Amino acid sequence: MYTIPSHVNPDSPEFLENKKHYAAILEKHRDIMHRVMQGGPEHATEKHRARGKLLARERIDLLIDPGTPFLELSTLAAYGQYDDNFPGAGIVTGIGVIHGREALIIANDATVKGGTYVKETIRKHVRAQEIAMQNNLPCVYMVDSGGVFLPNQAEVFPDRDDFGRIFFNQAQLSARGCPQIALVMGSCTAGGAYIPAMSDETIIVKNQGTIFIGGPPLVKAATGEVVTPEDLGGAEVHTTRSGVADHFAENDQHAISICRSIFETLQPHGKQQLDIRTSEEPHYDPQELTGILQADQKKQTDPYEVIARLTDSSRFHEFKARYATTLVTGFAHIMGYPVGIIANNGVLFAESSLKGTHFIQLCNFRRVPILFLQNITGFMVGKVYENAGLARDGAKLVHAVANASVPKFTVITGGSYGAGNYAMAGRAFDPHFLFMWPGARISVMGGQQAAMVLAQVKADQVEARGMKADPKELEAIKASILEKYEEEGSPYYSSSRLWDDGIIEPMQTRQVLALAIATSLNKKFGEPHSGVYRM
Ligand code: COA
Repeated sequence: MYTIPSHVNPDSPEFLENKKHYAAILEKHRDIMHRVMQGGPEHATEKHRARGKLLARERIDLLIDPGTPFLELSTLAAYGQYDDNFPGAGIVTGIGVIHGREALIIANDATVKGGTYVKETIRKHVRAQEIAMQNNLPCVYMVDSGGVFLPNQAEVFPDRDDFGRIFFNQAQLSARGCPQIALVMGSCTAGGAYIPAMSDETIIVKNQGTIFIGGPPLVKAATGEVVTPEDLGGAEVHTTRSGVADHFAENDQHAISICRSIFETLQPHGKQQLDIRTSEEPHYDPQELTGILQADQKKQTDPYEVIARLTDSSRFHEFKARYATTLVTGFAHIMGYPVGIIANNGVLFAESSLKGTHFIQLCNFRRVPILFLQNITGFMVGKVYENAGLARDGAKLVHAVANASVPKFTVITGGSYGAGNYAMAGRAFDPHFLFMWPGARISVMGGQQAAMVLAQVKADQVEARGMKADPKELEAIKASILEKYEEEGSPYYSSSRLWDDGIIEPMQTRQVLALAIATSLNKKFGEPHSGVYRM
């Protein structure tokens, strides 16, 4: 491996301009994150605390091993939707270490509309369970929720990936040997009652936790019986009579200590072995990334300069450096973990696809996780390239990405457009984790291109009828498409809808990736395999 030579001049006008541009992006990002992490409105937080309860993130802080980081996921779910009444979609999810073991933690935030579930809450919960499944992790559910957000029932109740999927996933996780522990720290009603009931062990907090399929108002309406929540399904009932819960806790802190104690009883499991080295800081300062990322997305950001600020000692063993140079491939270490990096350096050609496919095979057989650094406008279009079999070779890369037998991690650093998104392990290709940088963009094509395409289609339609298109009408089509793409291409639009696992700052990327890779080692990598490659 060699140390990547950097050609960046931090005093150049271009660097300073880029840095200023990204500083504004980061300021906005930090402001949004800060607001969202406050949770629900002040009055709801006060009510919550007055009951002697801890907030969702405080519960998680106490649960994980002291001094260890928590990799929070999808913090901006539901951002910009529902009049921003569902910060974080009312749920906190992420990965933390409990008694030395990585675990998936899912905690309702009861300060957000009583911890009820809108579509994004469910997607976030289900996504977290998928991560637990893909990485063979134990799950902890910190339950404090009024169940489905009733006005939106049609959006959250009946479909395959709606509320019921949570319980389907619990059964699947259980059958795969992933331990699941529930802490009932508040309401747990209707279908939500299955969360503790389907867990391996359940802890319930005195005078706070309740579990019932139908709450007191429903019972009264259905049968006329009048019953208090505590008598219907409180801690006393469930730990002495019904057997729905296993441990009685005096308060939140006690419940958390019981959960930690349960983790002490879990036995070690076989992990994937990797040649993990001592972590070294990059030779070049990651803070410089903001001056390197091009403010003008039409200009290519140099992937070598990015890689040099992500890898240990900025070292890189490049593969096929002289061939198909719009795709950069090579091996490196990030905080001690070996990775194979695939990074864009321009549009994809047939030969870039072949190079990427070959490199993925190397990673599969060497058992090295793959990091995709996505900054891609798409594949090269035009007669010469299509006639030479662009789709045939592109398909090989898409095959290889889909069937990679090692964990994949995707970071969208710049643009993510069209088929390039697929070939570079976009969401549909099941990367173990997918993060976006706050200056990134994602859409089927650039807004400008989409506007041109649709205006051209319109003009062709009109001309086919023997008339001439009205230039004003064409301009109006372009303007409305541009506006739509501007909004929908934003990483905040993406993160709000769970198309990614979160927006992370470029300077945090090494730490986030290290946690993600460490998490993936809980499941042994599969054997290399592939489908039929069109030759
Ligand atoms: N659907 C929609 N909104 C709900 C809701 C639900 N299931 N449960 C609570 N909310 C809303 C409340 O209307 C209130 O909204 P507001 O802040 O705009 O006024 C907010 O969530 C907080 O509810 P509140 O009752 O004030 O809080 P609480 O902490 O005292 O009680 C619950 C929380 C969840 C225990 C209680 O609201 C409750 O029992 N809800 C009904 C639960 C239920 O029957 N669910 C069935 C789902 S299938």
